[in-house]
Amino acid sequence: MCGIVAYIGKKEAYPILIKGLKRLEYRGYDSAGIALLSGGNVNLYKKQGKVANLEEFATGKDISGHSGIGHTRWATHGLPNDINSHPHTSMDGKIALIHNGIIENYDSIKEELISRGYIFKSETDTEVLVHLIDDIQKHEKVDLVEAVRLALQSVIGAYAIVVLSKEFPNQLVAARKSSPLVVGIGAEGDFYLASDATPIIEYTKQVVYLDDEEIAVVDLKEGLKIINIKNQVKAPYIQELEMHLEALEKGGYEHFMLKEIHEQPRSIKDCFRGRLNAEKGWVSLGGLKDYQQKIMNSKRLVMVACGTSWHACQVGEYLIEDLARINVEVEYASEFRYRNPIINEDDIVIAVSQSGETADTMAALELAKSKGATILGICNVVGSSISRITDAGSYTHAGPEIGVASTKAFTAQVTVLTLMALSLANRKGTLSSSKFHTMLSELEAIPDKVQRILDKNDLIEEIAKVYKDASNALYLGRGSSFPVALEGALKLKEISYIHAEGYPAAEMKHGPIALIDEEMPVFVIATKGTSYEKVVSNIQEVKARKGKIIAIVTEGDVQVRDLADHVIEIPDTDEHLVPLLATIPLQLLSYHISVMRGCNVDQPRNLAKSVTVE
Ligand code: AGP
Ligand code: GLU
Repeated sequence: MCGIVAYIGKKEAYPILIKGLKRLEYRGYDSAGIALLSGGNVNLYKKQGKVANLEEFATGKDISGHSGIGHTRWATHGLPNDINSHPHTSMDGKIALIHNGIIENYDSIKEELISRGYIFKSETDTEVLVHLIDDIQKHEKVDLVEAVRLALQSVIGAYAIVVLSKEFPNQLVAARKSSPLVVGIGAEGDFYLASDATPIIEYTKQVVYLDDEEIAVVDLKEGLKIINIKNQVKAPYIQELEMHLEALEKGGYEHFMLKEIHEQPRSIKDCFRGRLNAEKGWVSLGGLKDYQQKIMNSKRLVMVACGTSWHACQVGEYLIEDLARINVEVEYASEFRYRNPIINEDDIVIAVSQSGETADTMAALELAKSKGATILGICNVVGSSISRITDAGSYTHAGPEIGVASTKAFTAQVTVLTLMALSLANRKGTLSSSKFHTMLSELEAIPDKVQRILDKNDLIEEIAKVYKDASNALYLGRGSSFPVALEGALKLKEISYIHAEGYPAAEMKHGPIALIDEEMPVFVIATKGTSYEKVVSNIQEVKARKGKIIAIVTEGDVQVRDLADHVIEIPDTDEHLVPLLATIPLQLLSYHISVMRGCNVDQPRNLAKSVTVE
C-alpha cells in the first residue's frame, strides 16, 4: 500500500508534503519520511510510526526547499522501522526515491548490485530501485529520466515511484505500474504528485491520472511530459477533479469512521440520485446502460471483490438472483485470480471496490479480460484504476471514505447492486409491476430510516458498554442478512481486535454452537420476513446454552424482545432492503466498542485502506 506525495514549484514543499501525508495516512502508517532538496543538498527525515512522529522529529531541522518527496508506509518487505522507511537514497545521497508497491524480482537485482559494490542499508525491496537508477545513470551516462526508464524495464512487480535528484533540481520523475499515481498541475507552473487526489485538491483541480508503464516528468522549465517505458511520447489527458475539500475533513466528529457512519443518509441518497424515481416508476444505472441487454441475456454474472466489498457482492447475489432471476457467483478476487477459473466471452465479471485500487480485484479483472469476458466495475473512487480498465461501470458516489473500516462505501455498494437488481428485474419482467413500484418507494425511504437508526446512538452505546470486554463474538443472520452478519463480525474484529465470526444462523448448530456459554455475545439479525420464525428458533438454541443475545429486530417486535438480552429496533422495510438498515447498528456497536477499548478507530493496527499489494 503506502501513500506517496511530491511537490516541485515556488512554494515551500515541507508543509504541502506533511499535509499530503496526513491525508494519505489511511493507506499505511508504519512509518513516514520526506526528502527535501535545499541549497543543493538532499535533506532526509524518516521516522517509524505516524506522520506526527515525523513532524516532531523534523522540528528545528532544516525543512526548507521547493522540491520534495514524502511517503507513508505499510511495510511489505522489512520491519516498520526508521531505516526501512522511505525515501531511500543512493549511496552518495544524490538521489532519493519513494515507492508504493512490490518489486518482485528485487532479490536478483540486489544480488547483482551487491556484486558491483552497492551497499544496502534497508531490508526493503524498494532500495534496489534507487541503486539501479544510480548505477544505470553512471554507467550508461544518461540523464535521470532515461535512467528511470531503463531501470523500470528490468523490474517485475508493482510500483508507483517518484524520484528526486540533486543533479536535476528542476525536475521530479514519476512512474507507475499497478499502483496509482496522479499528477496535479498547479496554476503557478508548479506540480504535485500523489497516490490519490486528496493531497492535491486544495491546490489545483487539474489532474492527470497516469496509466500503467507511464513515466511523468515534471520540469519547472519544460512543464509536464509523459512517456512510456518504451520511450513513446504520450499526450497528457487533463481532467477536472470534482472532489471537495470539506469531504476530506472530520467536520466536528471525533473520528472519520463516526462521520462516515453518520453520512449514510446522505451518501445513500447521493448514490441513487438521478438513478431512481419512485413517483415516475423508473430506475436506471446510466453507466451500465449499454450493457444492460447483455447482462439480461447472460447465463451468469461473476462478482469479484475483497473484504467488505465482497460482503456487498453477497448481498447483491441474493437480490439479483431473487429479483431478476440471473445466476450470480461471488468470488474472493484473491482466489479467483489463481485458480484457473472457467471464464469465456459470454461471461460478465463485475468488480466491486471502494478504492478501485485493490490489487487482487484488479488482477482478477485483468484475468477475466484476458479470457474475453466483459468486465464491469462498481467503485467509489472516481478515476481509480479499476474504473479505468473496465468496459463500463457505476460509481457509488459515497464521497471519500477515510476511515480504514468501510461503512458508507458498503451501504452505497449495496444500494447500487439493489438498483441493478431492480432495473434488471423490471426489464426482464421477473417482478410484478406493483412489487416493483413498492420497492422503489421503499428504497427512496431508506435514507430517512437510516437516520432514525442513527438517532438511537445512545442506546447502542449503552449496549456496547456491556460487551466491550468480550473476547469473542458471534454474528448470525439468514438470507441477505447473512452477509450483514459477516460484515458485522469483520467490523468488530478489525477495529476492536475482538475475535468475531459471522455465520448463517442455521449453520450454528453444525459447529459454532460449541462455543456458546454465558460469556459469548451473539448478535442476531432477526427482522420480520421469510426466515423470521427460523431465526427465532436459532435464538432459542443460543438462549438454552446461556449465550447473550443482542438482536436487531423490526420495530414493534415482541417475540424476540422476550428472549433477547438487548434489542435494537430498526424501521420496517421490504425484506430485500434490510441489509441497508441492519448494518447501521452493527457499525455503531463496533465503533463504540473500539473507542471504549482505546483502539485506534480510524487506523487499526496492521491494516491499510487500500490494499494495493497481494
Ligand atoms: C473493510 O472494512 C476493510 N478494511 C477491507 O476489508 C476492504 O473492504 C477491502 O480491503 C476491499 O477494499 P476495496 O473495497 O477498496 O477494494
Ligand atoms: N515494498 C515497499 C516496502 O515494503 C513498499 C510497500 C507498499 O507500497 O505497500 O517498503
